[in-house]
Amino acid sequence: DIEKKIDELLAKMSLEEKVGQMTQISIEILLKTENGKVVEPHQLDLDKLSECIRTHKVGSILNIGGDAQTVANWQGVIQTIQKMALESPNKIPVLYGIDAIHGNNYTASSVLFPQQIAQAASFNPQMVKKAAEITAYETRASFTPWTFSPVLDLGRNPIWPRIWETFGEDPYLVGELGKAMVKGFQGENLVTDKFHVAACLKHYMGYSMPLSGHDRTPAWIPERELREYFLPQFAEAVNAGAKTVMVNSGEINGVPVHANKHILTDILKGELNFKGFAVSDWQDIEYLYQRHHVAKDNKEAVMIAINAGIDMSMVPTDYTFCDALIELAKEGKVSMSRIDDAVRRVLRVKFEVDLFNNPAGNAKDYLAFNSAEHSKVNYDVAAECVALLKNNNNILPLSSSSKILVTGPAAKSMRALNGGWSRNWQGLNSDETEADKNTILESMQKTFGAANVDYSEGASFTSATNIQETVAKAANADVIVLCIGENSYTETPGNIGDISISKSQVELAKALAATGKPIVFVLTEGRPRVLSEIEPLSAAVVHAFLLGNEGGNVIADVLAGKINPSGKLPYTYPRSVNSLHNYYHKTTETLPFDEWAGYNPQWEFGFGLSYTTFKYANLKVSNNQIGENGKITVSVEVSNTGKVAGKETVLLFAKDLVASITPEAKRLRGFEKIALQPGETKTVSFELGRDKLSFINNELKRVTEPGEFMIQIGDQKTTISVLEGTTSNN
Ligand code: IFM
Repeated sequence: DIEKKIDELLAKMSLEEKVGQMTQISIEILLKTENGKVVEPHQLDLDKLSECIRTHKVGSILNIGGDAQTVANWQGVIQTIQKMALESPNKIPVLYGIDAIHGNNYTASSVLFPQQIAQAASFNPQMVKKAAEITAYETRASFTPWTFSPVLDLGRNPIWPRIWETFGEDPYLVGELGKAMVKGFQGENLVTDKFHVAACLKHYMGYSMPLSGHDRTPAWIPERELREYFLPQFAEAVNAGAKTVMVNSGEINGVPVHANKHILTDILKGELNFKGFAVSDWQDIEYLYQRHHVAKDNKEAVMIAINAGIDMSMVPTDYTFCDALIELAKEGKVSMSRIDDAVRRVLRVKFEVDLFNNPAGNAKDYLAFNSAEHSKVNYDVAAECVALLKNNNNILPLSSSSKILVTGPAAKSMRALNGGWSRNWQGLNSDETEADKNTILESMQKTFGAANVDYSEGASFTSATNIQETVAKAANADVIVLCIGENSYTETPGNIGDISISKSQVELAKALAATGKPIVFVLTEGRPRVLSEIEPLSAAVVHAFLLGNEGGNVIADVLAGKINPSGKLPYTYPRSVNSLHNYYHKTTETLPFDEWAGYNPQWEFGFGLSYTTFKYANLKVSNNQIGENGKITVSVEVSNTGKVAGKETVLLFAKDLVASITPEAKRLRGFEKIALQPGETKTVSFELGRDKLSFINNELKRVTEPGEFMIQIGDQKTTISVLEGTTSNN
C-alpha cells in the first residue's frame, strides 16, 4: 500500500532529496530567455532545469511564468521536467501545481467558468461540482495534477480584493460548495485518476478579514471567532478528502500564520486529522524576516516555518530554502522526524494522484479539452449564477424588438467578464478578445439583432470617454443597458481606498438618467461596489458577478428572457461605504439610530428576484422540541405563482433567541435549490439536529444551548425549543 511504498522511499532518500521534496520552484526561473525576456512559446532551459532537478532535487514546480500557453506546448514542458525527474536515483516525479481556479485558466483556449463568487450565487453544489470536474479534466490535459483551489476564505470584508475568489460571506454556504468543488476536482476516490487533480484549500486560515480591508495586512480574530466562522469550512473540506492546504500569507493577532504552530500543527494536523501537506504561499517563509520581522534572517525563518508545520515551501525563485533547511537539519534545529513527516505527506499526495504510474499523460486522452460540450456546461453553470436585484414594473425581460443602447466600460470587455486569474495573473489585457467568445455587446447584437442594438462606451472604469455622444445615442433607444463594475485584478493590485463604484461610471449613469430613458444596470464585479448614488436611477439591476467566458451569452439571454435568473447574493450588498455588515450581524448593529447607522444593506445576503414569483406556505416542524441527540424535520411548501418556469433556492435560517454569546440576527443552516413549473408546488424538507443549532462558546467548545430558536424560511417563521441534553451529532 501507499504507506509501505513511502517507508521504502524514505529509507533510501538522502537529506538533500528529502529537502528537495519540500521545495517548490516557479517555472519562470527555468525558462529559456533571450535578452532578458522569456522566449515564447515557453521552452525549458535545460541547464537551469538540471540545477533545479539534479542539483537541488526539487520535488515541485508551479506557475506558467506569464501569459497563457497552449495545451500542446505545456504538455511538452511537463514531459521534459518529468523525464529528468525520473532519471533521479529514486525516480520521484515532480508534482506540478497551478492556479486553475475557474477552469484551467492559465492555458490558452481552456473553458473559463464563472469565478467562485458567481458560482456561490448559484447556491447549487451540483453545478459547482460539474465545473470543478471539467476544470480538473482540462488541467490534467496540461499534464498538471494539482490545482491551488478552492478558496475557502470567508468573504466577510467587501473591501478585501479577493472577495471574488471566495464563495461569499456565509460559513455554511462556503463549506457546502467547498466540499462539492473538492469532490469535483479529486473525484470520489482516494487515488485520483488521470482526469482529476488534487485540490488545495486556501488560504488556511483567517486570511480574508484584514482590519484595513487591504490584502495581506494584519487581522485580529479571536480564537472563538476563528473557530466559529473561519475553521468549519476547512474542516468540512478536509473531511471530504482534500489533499493539500495553502497557508494564509497574513498575520492574525500579531502572529504570521506561516509561523503559527497552533494553527498549522495542533489544529490542522491534530484536531482536523489532515493527512495531506501544507504548502506555503508565494515567498511567505522568506517574508517572515523580510516583512513580518519575526525572524532575523532566512535561516531562522525556515526553522520557524517548518517547525510550525509547513511541509512545502513555495520558495519560489532561488534555492536558499534548500540550503537553509539542510543546515538546520544537520544542526538539529529542525528534527529529522519533522522532515520525514513533511516528506511523507508530500509523497502521499504524489501517490494519491497516481504520479508514479502516470507522471505526465497522453494527449489523446484529452480530446474534449475546450469542447462544445464543456462550453455548454459552462453556459449552464453561468446561467444559474446571475442575481436579479431589481426589476421595476417588470421591465425585464426586454421585448425582442426593443431598441437598445448598450454602454459602459464592461460592455465590450472579456476582461471585465472573466476577472483575474484569466490567461494571466491580472486577467486578460484590456484590448484582448477571446476567439469564439462573446462580449456582452456581441451577444446582445446576436440575440436582439444588430439593427436593434447600438453601442457607445460612455466611460472607462477610470474616466469619462464620450458621455455626450452616448447621451445623444440614447435618444434613439427604448432602453439603455449600462454595463458597469470593475476591471479585473488579483491580490494586492486590487486594493482600493473607496468601495463606491468609480466616479466615471457615476457620471455616465447620471447623464444617461437625465434622458429619461429606462436604464438596466448590468454589474460585472466580484465585490459589491456601493451604488447608492446611482441605484435609484436604475429601472432594473442584474448582478452578473464575474461570469467567465460564456458570460456575454448568458447576460443577453437573461435580458431576453431565455434564462430566468435564479442566483441569490452570497454576500450582503452594502448601501453605504461605512456600513459594511454581514447578514449574521449582532442585533445591536440593527438599533435604528437613523437609516444609515445600523444594518440597512442595499440588498441582503440571499436576495435575488426571478421573472416568476414564489409563494411560501405551511412551514411545519415534525416536533417543536429537540431532545437529547434529537433531530426534527422542518418542511415548507413552495409554489411558483407566476407565468414562467423558474428555480428558487430555499434558505433555512435559525436564530438563537438567548445565548451565552450574543446571538446573531440569524444564521443559514440549510438550503436547497428547486425547479418549479408555473402553478407547481413542491414541499422542501430539512433535517435539523442539535448540531445545526450549535456555536462555539467562550470556552472554545461547540455547544447547543437549551432554549428557544426561531426558524425562518422565506416569510414563514416558527419557534422551537431545544431541551437540556448532550449534542452528540456535532
Ligand atoms: O495560489 C496563489 C495564492 O492564492 C496567492 N499567491 C500565489 C499562489 C500561487 O500562485
